[in-house]
Amino acid sequence: MSQSFHVSRRSNPFRLSSAVVFCAATFLWIGCSDQGDDPKDPLGSGGPGDGNEPQLTSVVPARTYVGDEIRLTGSEFGTDEGTVAFTTASGGTAFATISSWTDTEITAHVPSDAADGGVRVQVGTSSSDPLDFEVAPEISLATHVRPIFQTQGCLSCHGGSGGLFVDTQANILAGGGRGPGVIPRNSAGSNIIKALHGDGIPLMPQGAPQPIPAAQILVIADWIDQGARDN
Ligand code: HEC
Repeated sequence: MSQSFHVSRRSNPFRLSSAVVFCAATFLWIGCSDQGDDPKDPLGSGGPGDGNEPQLTSVVPARTYVGDEIRLTGSEFGTDEGTVAFTTASGGTAFATISSWTDTEITAHVPSDAADGGVRVQVGTSSSDPLDFEVAPEISLATHVRPIFQTQGCLSCHGGSGGLFVDTQANILAGGGRGPGVIPRNSAGSNIIKALHGDGIPLMPQGAPQPIPAAQILVIADWIDQGARDN
């Protein structure tokens, strides 16, 4: 095997040299596109297709209230702070206040003019593709969520002794036999939301013929996505 390679290499210098050229070109291309974070490198300053556009892969939460802190993850954000742009109701742009900025993760506060629409990361003249974002009302456990648990009868079975209690934030977080009742910032993964949809957990309230109104489930989901605070 090694001998036949040896023979063909010697007998075909053209193939060898084109491989060297290809490798060198590949090395240069990768080398150049990796320089994008260097402000002194004009090749890295970002036109379409140069491989340096910021890539936004997730926004958590993707629905929350004005002022809440959101976490944006992705790549090629660069080390110098850029901007996080939201859509406004009039179709304009509102910029977030940045709390922290790294090449792969940004924390920022939803600006007061933000409306439902896209959120994008902008670095220099480059912009990521937008991800969907929705503005939600700010939800309080005491004012909005607990009354739903009360009127839907959750507290009559989950406010006494044994298993999941849905009376206080601490007890909701502590949860029941299946683990925590909620995972802050992750409503879809939270047992209470799964139970309200009958998704892997018996539909709650236990014995109910159908789920509680979607608007009430959304209030509880918003509270969880807003951090499941004791507010
Ligand atoms: C009639 C009593 C009753 C009512 C009312 C009720 N539950 Fe339950 N709940 C139960 C029982 C019993 C279980 C255990 C079911 C099982 O594991 O099969 C349970 C389990 C759960 C679980 C899973 C807990 C775990 O860790 O295993 C969640 C979450 C839950 N209920 C939420 C709710 C919510 C939210 C409401 C109100 C919308 C509600 N329940 C209303 C009796 C009730």
